[in-house]
Amino acid sequence: MLNLRGFLCFIAGLLVMSHVSAQENAMREENQVCLNCHSKQTYSFFNDWSGQDEKRLMNPHLVIDSVMFMNGVHQTFACTDCHSMDYETYPHLHELKLEPMATCLDCHGGDPHYEQYQFEKIDEEFQKSVHFERAGDLFTCSKCHNQHYYQNAARTSSTVGEIVRINNQMCLTCHSNAAQYSLSTNAEFHNLSDVHEWLPNQELHFRSVRCIDCHSEFKQDLMVSHNIQPKENAVKKCAECHSANSMLQATLYRYENIQAREDQGFFSSIQSNQAYIIGANQVPLFKYITIGIIALIVIGISVHIAFRVILKK
Ligand code: HEC
Ligand code: HEC
Ligand code: HEC
Ligand code: HEC
Ligand code: HEC
Ligand code: HEC
Ligand code: HEC
Repeated sequence: MLNLRGFLCFIAGLLVMSHVSAQENAMREENQVCLNCHSKQTYSFFNDWSGQDEKRLMNPHLVIDSVMFMNGVHQTFACTDCHSMDYETYPHLHELKLEPMATCLDCHGGDPHYEQYQFEKIDEEFQKSVHFERAGDLFTCSKCHNQHYYQNAARTSSTVGEIVRINNQMCLTCHSNAAQYSLSTNAEFHNLSDVHEWLPNQELHFRSVRCIDCHSEFKQDLMVSHNIQPKENAVKKCAECHSANSMLQATLYRYENIQAREDQGFFSSIQSNQAYIIGANQVPLFKYITIGIIALIVIGISVHIAFRVILKK
């Protein structure tokens, strides 16, 4: 009886699995049609007018990185889940250029499944930010979160360096690219390294802390405060970070995935509750304990070898 039931469950499981993977394959195949043109430098098509196959250069801004897409949160999507089905024909209909695209809130707003991210709260904070205030509705969430590639690295990666790099890249698409920047403003573009000239070891800082750690207002109940402040309010005091109760504990280092790892860097020096002294972030006690342990191991091994040699004789 039990065996029959187990067998039926097994068959049902197989059916579900094959159905899911068939769906996934179908999805990728479908996307492959778009990616045949949109992931390459050139594309080919049949020209109805001339009756010939033709090959042309693809506009680099319309190239989709398929690897980054497959690493993003929307990796399971078909292109046409977000874009009109009409894109399946080429040449694309010209009115498709005007197609309004869904925003994060259109899909995620009010959905209890995504409660942990607090989309509505983020939207509220974002609307107070300097970006929304100065650039208005045209500055959408997607300006920072590319819907093709967005990765929630801060929650999933355990390497501070990787989180910082991926997060900062979101800002650098505009703040290190005058053309992108000018899409949202007529204000003059300033070189970032000039603006942050007051900060020593700039490169190290940009690799170790996120732009938002200095530029957004801290909010206890939000993982990531989206209220980016005017430059006058940015963190400039070294002691905000270089002290025992570094504000980074409340921002960058609040993620469990990082805490679990107990990296030997900045985090453990603030965890061990030592004043973080610039250039001397090693805790001497730990160093001595480590040396002690190594010495004990070496002695242990020597004694062991000595006994073996003696016993053999
Ligand atoms: C035969 C090559 C080809 C195929 C297949 C193709 N595209 Fe395109 N697509 C282009 C080219 C070339 C452009 C540049 C603008 C134009 O010519 O319309 C473009 C433009 C676009 C744009 C930008 C429109 C704009 O100007 O803002 C989107 C979005 C797009 N394609 C989506 C898709 C999707 C989704 C698919 C698959 C369902 C797809 N494309 C299939 C060649 C192709
Ligand atoms: C989760 C929704 C979503 C999915 C899935 C998606 N796109 Fe997009 N796509 C967008 C949005 C939103 C924009 C407009 C971006 C903007 O203007 O800021 C866009 C823009 C584009 C553009 C114009 C160039 C650009 O990057 O702005 C192309 C080309 C494109 N998509 C192709 C594709 C292809 C090919 C696929 C499938 C591999 C795909 N998209 C899947 C949401 C999506
Ligand atoms: C067209 C609807 C749509 C749009 C637009 C959209 N999403 Fe999603 N998003 C989804 C769906 C559906 C999933 C679940 C995908 C899955 O489970 O494979 C998802 C997954 C996610 C996840 C992972 C959730 C989890 O816990 O696994 C995050 C984070 C996310 N989206 C953020 C965003 C952000 C930020 C934006 C705006 C830039 C956005 N999404 C735009 C529909 C959308
Ligand atoms: C100025 C750039 C910027 C804009 C605009 C922006 N975000 Fe973010 N967002 C970030 C950064 C940076 C992070 C932190 C990196 C991460 O967690 O992926 C983040 C994180 C998130 C997260 C993950 C939060 C978590 O708890 O893990 C969600 C969800 C999100 N944003 C949604 C949105 C929505 C919705 C909008 C529009 C209302 C928006 N963002 C607008 C930069 C931006
Ligand atoms: C889509 C392009 C774009 C992205 C992405 C972007 N910004 Fe901006 N940023 C702008 C524009 C445009 C302005 C406003 C310029 C103006 O009109 O004064 C601005 C203004 C600012 C200011 C205020 C400067 C001042 O004059 O007071 C700060 C700070 C800032 N951004 C930080 C960030 C951070 C941090 C991120 C990433 C989380 C980010 N930006 C992402 C385009 C962008
Ligand atoms: C250690 C803190 C800190 C970090 C990290 C930081 N900033 Fe700043 N930023 C500041 C301060 C403080 C100012 C104001 C400087 C002044 O007015 O002299 C500023 C100024 C700015 C401005 C105003 C530019 C202008 O036009 O005057 C922008 C934009 C900006 N930062 C973006 C960024 C981006 C993008 C990153 C990440 C790559 C970043 N910042 C990292 C503290 C920081
Ligand atoms: C947003 C937080 C933050 C602020 C503000 C900040 N720092 Fe840092 N600083 C860091 C982090 C994180 C590191 C990297 C530490 C590491 O990797 O060990 C660092 C590294 C340094 C280093 C290199 C130390 C070493 O071990 O090589 C110096 C020097 C330094 N900061 C000086 C300053 C000064 C001076 C200021 C004020 C003008 C300042 N920092 C502001 C977070 C900050």
